[in-house]
Amino acid sequence: MSGRPRGRPRVVAIDGAAGVGKSTLAAGLAEALGLPYVNTGLMYRAVAAEALRRGVPVDDAEGLAAIADALAFRVAGPAPGRLEVEGWPEDRLRTVDVEAVVSAVAAHPAVRRRLRARQRAIGEERGAVMEGRDIGSVVFADAPVKLFVTAEPEVRAARRAAERGRSAAPVGAALDRRDARDARTNPLAPAPDATVIDTTDRTIAETLHAALEVVARAAPELVP
Ligand code: C5P
Repeated sequence: MSGRPRGRPRVVAIDGAAGVGKSTLAAGLAEALGLPYVNTGLMYRAVAAEALRRGVPVDDAEGLAAIADALAFRVAGPAPGRLEVEGWPEDRLRTVDVEAVVSAVAAHPAVRRRLRARQRAIGEERGAVMEGRDIGSVVFADAPVKLFVTAEPEVRAARRAAERGRSAAPVGAALDRRDARDARTNPLAPAPDATVIDTTDRTIAETLHAALEVVARAAPELVP
């Protein structure tokens, strides 16, 4: 018998495309709810970064899956904690080189099977606000709260460019290319029971407020 309580997982699933404000919302929600913040994009980025470092080609499904198996993923840092990969600083995973290949890495079913199992285990053990592309649709299809975050394309590119200190046009083009490749792996559409939150005309605080209202309605047991 496992000591884990039965019933609904203590998981808020947050999905959406790159640059829509998912991470800002997920980190804020995790803090408000006292749940670990698990950004699953970091796992795919880590496999990509390690493949680049070791010279494993992005079409070598078994080589990539072996990397996925070997990486250390854990929830660490000040309570409630957040996902860390090997204790690496996140900057190392947020490079242009990683972003150029991560969609190809994430397209392999062998890689996704491994990472989804690790995500499921972390969320079941500790609860989580878990962010990605397929969390509400696949990894935690039984999550009591599912949010799907969207934003207008110009807003996405402008925010991401400000974050990276670059100009909006090339950043927007790179986001579009990554979206197009990612959409072949995961349809960028909300799960049928997800609540869509459009961040275009909302401040960070307004977005968080809207999300907390959804949590309070759908899963009051998660609100401290
Ligand atoms: O969310 P982020 O942009 O950091 O994700 C990096 C990449 O990881 C995405 O472009 C996508 O290829 C992949 N990913 C995925 N499934 C997830 C999370 C991320 O395929 N749940």
